[in-house]
Amino acid sequence: MGEQVAILGAGVMGETLLSGLLRAGWTPEDVLITERRADRAAELGERYGVRVADNLEAAALAQTVVLVVKPQDIASLLEEIAGALRPDTLVVCIAAGITTAFVEQRLPAGMAVVRVMPNTPAMVDQGMAAISPGSHCDVQHLARARALLEATGKVVQVPEYHQDAITAISGSGPAYIFYVVEAMIEAGVLLGLPRATSTELVVQTLYGAATMLKETGEHPTVLREQVSSPAGTTMAALRQLDDHKVRAAFLTAMEAARDRSRELSSGNA
Ligand SMILES: NC(=O)c1ccc[n+]([C@@H]2O[C@H](COP(=O)([O-])OP(=O)(O)OC[C@H]3O[C@@H](n4cnc5c(N)ncnc54)[C@H](OP(=O)(O)O)[C@@H]3O)[C@@H](O)[C@H]2O)c1
Repeated sequence: MGEQVAILGAGVMGETLLSGLLRAGWTPEDVLITERRADRAAELGERYGVRVADNLEAAALAQTVVLVVKPQDIASLLEEIAGALRPDTLVVCIAAGITTAFVEQRLPAGMAVVRVMPNTPAMVDQGMAAISPGSHCDVQHLARARALLEATGKVVQVPEYHQDAITAISGSGPAYIFYVVEAMIEAGVLLGLPRATSTELVVQTLYGAATMLKETGEHPTVLREQVSSPAGTTMAALRQLDDHKVRAAFLTAMEAARDRSRELSSGNA
């Protein structure tokens, strides 16, 4: 710590990163934020006690600059800050589908760039971020990016060609889980449970199952078999899921997300 980090774009993800860094021990003096909406900037500056700067000032001051604007705003932001960055500054880009090559082409030659795909559980410090090095990144740059992202959860390093798959699995993943949870809550209501009871049962079951996966390290098949007695209730339900090709639907769904991520990154939106 002690390194100045600038968060450019303090929207949902920017605030998530900012609050995570402060909870993880960065001091408000270590962090600068910039934001296009002045009222939002002032609100965050006050809430977290961090300095609000403009993009050029933040780019010139920080050792690490994190780009947290929407993908369509990245090119103009890079054009604005490229001349102000110090040559040894690390640029971390969190925008979905923006490649390190895209960022590198818009910066002075040789600058270190790291691409990140985070996910929304970062808001509760249970994020899953995948980082990929650009062409001028060394192990120290990667360690700095990792330290930033570890403030809000787990971090894996992957080659950049895996980022579309990562987007499909952990980037969009929370939405699939919420979708399954919605369906199970509706099922509880169908079976006559009050909605609040059904919600409590499903949410705690999800939390318990996730904790078992994480804490026991057992394969999910083993854990599922423990709840599937011969000719029992679970098997009756699982047979229906198999008959309705739910497993195959998950495979096809995530292939579709991967393909859509590819289309968006190649500008074929
Ligand atoms: N949310 C997620 O689940 C998630 C997951 C993975 C990756 N990401 C990535 O994270 C990035 C940010 O997403 P988000 O949901 O946090 O978006 P967001 O809430 O719209 O935040 C972006 C913020 O940056 C501001 N901004 C835009 N251009 C700017 C500029 N040139 N200088 C300073 N501030 C600027 C925006 O202001 P305006 O409102 O005026 O535009 C907005 O407040 C995206 O690229 C997204 O792909 C998000």
